[in-house]
Amino acid sequence: MLSKLLRKRQPVVTSDLTKRKELAQIEQLPSHIAIIMDGNGRWAKNRSLPRIAGHYEGMQTVRKITRFANDVGIETLTLYAFSTENWKRPKKEVDYLMRLPEEFMGTYLPELIEQNVQVQMMGNIDLLPDHTKRAITKAVEKTSHNDGLILNFALNYGSRDEIIQSVQQIVNKVQLGTISCDDITEELISSHLMTKDLTEPDLLIRTSGEIRLSNFMLWQLAYTEFWFTDTLWPDFDEPCLMDAIESYQKRNRKYGGLKEEDVEEK
Ligand code: IPE
Ligand code: IPE
Ligand code: MG
Repeated sequence: MLSKLLRKRQPVVTSDLTKRKELAQIEQLPSHIAIIMDGNGRWAKNRSLPRIAGHYEGMQTVRKITRFANDVGIETLTLYAFSTENWKRPKKEVDYLMRLPEEFMGTYLPELIEQNVQVQMMGNIDLLPDHTKRAITKAVEKTSHNDGLILNFALNYGSRDEIIQSVQQIVNKVQLGTISCDDITEELISSHLMTKDLTEPDLLIRTSGEIRLSNFMLWQLAYTEFWFTDTLWPDFDEPCLMDAIESYQKRNRKYGGLKEEDVEEK
């Protein structure tokens, strides 16, 4: 708590962040970080601003964190931007959220291209308004030859929706006789998910103090390390990401097994 207050009051000294970054790079970095970007509405409410002001500010955080993650050497950054349940929100807010990809790409696509970032998207794109689809498709196409950070936006994404689609595809193949029931393995299911070309997240971050998954990557997070913070997404910054990475580096990932040093009889 104190460190958080101090961080707020004292501007971060660049060299300190550089030092932390360099130290973190000596150890195993999480290759894939997934973030549930939450708290935009509360950030705005705290300032007596309309909720959409929080979403606009959250977009600036996306820019900042993408740049930094790329700079640190993270390979994949998945950002939960709009869930299949977020359509329940008032039309005005949904309309604004659907304008954000255009706004974001309109402003930042040139710098994403320059930074060698590859934009990808997972979610049900068909149900997005045409202007949103166009902005995303253009960004994906224009960055498809890049081989730096994969910036994967989860937009109109829901894990249950994703699982339903994959089950439908698999059942269809069984009915056609292309595969049999015995061919259904973890790998087969993974290869029918929207993340089929990505690694599983090593680290999941959720901002704003909520401790739940809200229908996010239920299959893929089976062995992911979780990190929660009370910081609201618009306030999330580079030192916060370093906190999460450093915490990850102290974890003991065992995947149900034992570390070599804990095996009693060899
Ligand atoms: C996250 O912020 C952005 C989206 C879900 C689109 P919220 O809009 O959920 O912010 P809070 O949770 O109301 O503060
Ligand atoms: C999850 O946040 C979805 C995104 C961050 C896009 P929500 O704000 O929609 O989640 P709940 O409603 O608090 O579970
Ligand atoms: Mg929320």
